[in-house]
Amino acid sequence: MIETHPWAPINDDGFADLPSHDTWVSGVPYSTFKRMRDEQPVCWTKEIDGSGFWSITRYQDVVEANHRWDEFSSKNGIRLEEMDHDEIEARRTMMELDPPQHTRLRRLVNRGFTRKTVETFEEPIRDLAIEIIEKALKKTEFDFVDDVARILPMRMLGRLLGVPDKDGELLVAWGDQLLSNADPEYTDHVVDKVDTEEFRLIPFRSPAGLEVFKYAQNAASERRNSQHQDLITRMLEPTSDGQPLTDLEFNNFFTLLVAAGNDTTRYSLTEGLRALIEHPDEMQKLRDNPELIGSAVEEILRWTTVTTHFRRTATSDMHLSGQEIKEGEKVVLWWVSANYDERKFDDPYKFDICRNPNDHVTFGRNGPHLCLGAWLARMELRVTIQELLKRTSQIEITKTSEKLRSHLISGTKHLFVKTT
Ligand code: HEM
Repeated sequence: MIETHPWAPINDDGFADLPSHDTWVSGVPYSTFKRMRDEQPVCWTKEIDGSGFWSITRYQDVVEANHRWDEFSSKNGIRLEEMDHDEIEARRTMMELDPPQHTRLRRLVNRGFTRKTVETFEEPIRDLAIEIIEKALKKTEFDFVDDVARILPMRMLGRLLGVPDKDGELLVAWGDQLLSNADPEYTDHVVDKVDTEEFRLIPFRSPAGLEVFKYAQNAASERRNSQHQDLITRMLEPTSDGQPLTDLEFNNFFTLLVAAGNDTTRYSLTEGLRALIEHPDEMQKLRDNPELIGSAVEEILRWTTVTTHFRRTATSDMHLSGQEIKEGEKVVLWWVSANYDERKFDDPYKFDICRNPNDHVTFGRNGPHLCLGAWLARMELRVTIQELLKRTSQIEITKTSEKLRSHLISGTKHLFVKTT
């Protein structure tokens, strides 16, 4: 039995300050989550302003709370940050809705992201991966993030959405400013450091949100003027109530896709490659048995758990695992803790590409918000790893950077590698 995660930060004394973005720069506080799971699995966590939230850390409780969506609502926001009523309204996407309002939006795009639909894009996506990987491999040493993992996901998502490849870089840069809004490497408007009041009604309190809105509106008018067969076109069709989305709903929806399809897969790819390199036996097993790619991808998803948590709000007084939770209180589902719960996973700190079963919660589980892009992300990971391994016999890490400054997204910002 492996006692702790090989990437556990040494400064984690079991009492890490979870809401602080700074905590996460040195890595996921695995020891803190282990202590919480063992001692107080539903635990009140204080925030700097004196408020707080319930942290749910055990697998069973996370899955149960996620399933009881009518009691653990997404309507008041899914981020730790508290928002005023007008902010929530202006920035609302389907993520901040419960059924049936949520279903109305989700149905518009659901078919575009099913396993079957995504598989029809495999060939062009593989070609894209080959092109980008071969370009990177021409260098003796390269940053896997900047040269591969940062570029691919948005270009791949772009194929489904129907945006031209040439706009990929622009969308990636905007996506970074949105989801990485707490890291000064990606934005001048670091949410907890500078005054972002001016942008409070814009997604992620980021001026980049305005740029994405403009882009979305142009894309919409292009499609109103001529025939297209893509996801953006589908998003403009009438919803189940017979009415199309309002401009604000459409803008927020488009922005959600740009944000959600960007960093998440980037860091899963990066941390996944890092895990394979640092576990040479597992890497060799995969090279020798390429048919293991499916289960390797699932283990990478569990191991990396890039989206550390999402938040809910209790809609009534209730009990969860013996703890009383009051109506209106904030509840945080820590996916990153649930995926390492030793009550669910044998030897959770072992990176095992043959792990079976592997019912991780990386995409959520048993709830209406189950990740829309799950099949796309799986395919992006599978295709990229397959094509990279085919073209290399050895991959070595020469330098890594610190992790993203974010309590929401966990990922190494740069991973320099040498290949032969
Ligand atoms: C490894 C990569 C990814 C991870 C770890 C991830 C994680 C998640 C999680 C945990 C949720 C549930 C949110 C909740 O319960 O409130 C979610 C929802 C969502 N994801 Fe992903 N995601 C990934 C890739 C993608 C991609 C590529 C897209 C492409 C557009 C995407 C789009 C979405 C959307 C739109 C939702 C909201 C679904 C809803 O509210 O019904 N995700 N994702």
